[in-house]
Amino acid sequence: MMTWFDVSKLGLQKIQGRRGREFLMYELIQNSWDAAATVVSVELSKAPGARTATLIVEDNSPSGFRDLSHASTLFAESDKKGCATLRGRFNFGEKLVLACCDTAEIISTTGGVRFGEKGRHRLRQKRERGTIFRATLPLTNVELEACEAAFRTLIPPPGVTTTYNGVALHRRTPTTTFDATLRTEVADEDGNIRPSSRKTVVRVYPVLAGESGTVYELGIPVVQTGDGYHADVQQKVPLGFDRDNLPPAYLRALRTHVLNAVHNSMNPVEVTSVWVREALGTKDISVEAVRSVVTKRFGEKSVTYDPSDREANALAVTKGYTVVYGGQLSAGEWENVRRADVLLPAGKVTPSPKPYAEDGSPVQVLPRTEWSVAQRAVVALYERLAPHLIDRGIEVRIVVAPRNKFRACYGPRWPLDLNSPHLGRRFFESGCSNDVLDLLIHELGHEYESNHLSEGYYRALTRIGARLALAVARDPTLLRCDFG
Ligand SMILES: Nc1ncnc2c1ncn2[C@@H]1O[C@H](COP(=O)(O)OP(=O)(O)O)[C@@H](O)[C@H]1O
Ligand SMILES: [Mg+2]
Repeated sequence: MMTWFDVSKLGLQKIQGRRGREFLMYELIQNSWDAAATVVSVELSKAPGARTATLIVEDNSPSGFRDLSHASTLFAESDKKGCATLRGRFNFGEKLVLACCDTAEIISTTGGVRFGEKGRHRLRQKRERGTIFRATLPLTNVELEACEAAFRTLIPPPGVTTTYNGVALHRRTPTTTFDATLRTEVADEDGNIRPSSRKTVVRVYPVLAGESGTVYELGIPVVQTGDGYHADVQQKVPLGFDRDNLPPAYLRALRTHVLNAVHNSMNPVEVTSVWVREALGTKDISVEAVRSVVTKRFGEKSVTYDPSDREANALAVTKGYTVVYGGQLSAGEWENVRRADVLLPAGKVTPSPKPYAEDGSPVQVLPRTEWSVAQRAVVALYERLAPHLIDRGIEVRIVVAPRNKFRACYGPRWPLDLNSPHLGRRFFESGCSNDVLDLLIHELGHEYESNHLSEGYYRALTRIGARLALAVARDPTLLRCDFG
């Protein structure tokens, strides 16, 4: 019977031309790690000026190859596909490696096989334990150097010694380790690979000088993220045949878990990185992570821009707060900020002065008949001056509002209220004093602008000051303030 498929070795080899040669080494090392080897040695060498290199990978796996036909059968059913904690699944990697070799030989516990110009043939040799893979393959000097550098980025599983030309991979110490439920791809009882979720351990490592943050699957680099850490997921991650990328949703979920685990040890520069911003906008970020990241990013003293109280925003700045505007956070980040109750609106933290509470009881107005002589005189002074300063007459009231903080209150639609308990008797009894004129200028400024910290308000004050000077120069009796 003819099989459905034949494979073009040359075609497969050429397709692999787009990938860096380190993938060959990675495929062989992961097969050895999957086979529970505790010692794996890689030798990659090339004679000066030669076109081809020799690659030898030897391990001490107790079982070795259980079925040597799997060395040459594409997509045979890998026994690893049902196991979330092994790297292999497609029964593809070894064949990709062979496709790129000129000659190769595998000797293992169940026998040996040689691949050469005349095809493949079985060898009579076999080993007690472990496997040796020996091959010649075309390799440039640049590729050779890239392989050596790529080898050093591997993270060896605990208890496994892995060497490259005699030098062992250095051990890395995780900064933190945590459990997370993440998407994985394992086969069901019928051998069909299905997406599922599973709880696993993730180890987080620091990025060393010259490295770029990377996501690993059980010690094998998958994709460079450029994030500020390496994350080594201790189970199968969702991978394509090239084993070099991750779905964006998976990466986002992983970043969120990492941020939940490491936010406490991050500095204010690190929290501005792209991956943190992405994680900060996801639903699964913890309230503690949101609080610490936002505080580090904007500082302890920070408020959000409050469109309902413009003056509060300006007040916050004068008091040393950072005001965070809408566009500085994404919709997801804002939602989490609200959920975590950080970053209150400026109107809550540095509210503008509001003389009467919105729901306050009606203010108690002192009837004219109860005014003192001094009060009468000051009110008369104010009523006389106002038309010269703002071109209209004003109504002046004396109010008794001991619990409200203001001394006086005025607006274009409000009489000028003088809060007698806060002004005190001396204010009125000093006649046309500095304080009396100062208060009038301050209050009449609100004819034009309520926000003390606005340009409109200071322009109103200088304008009123100038008009007062000229008016008094024309008629000094304007400042009269007689009382007996
Ligand atoms: N070093 C090794 N030790 C033991 N078995 C191995 C080794 N290398 C490969 N194998 C066997 O060969 C099979 C084919 O390897 P590979 O093509 O990489 O597929 P996968 O790793 O996805 O199963 C593996 O499933 C495994 O059974
Ligand atoms: Mg494999």
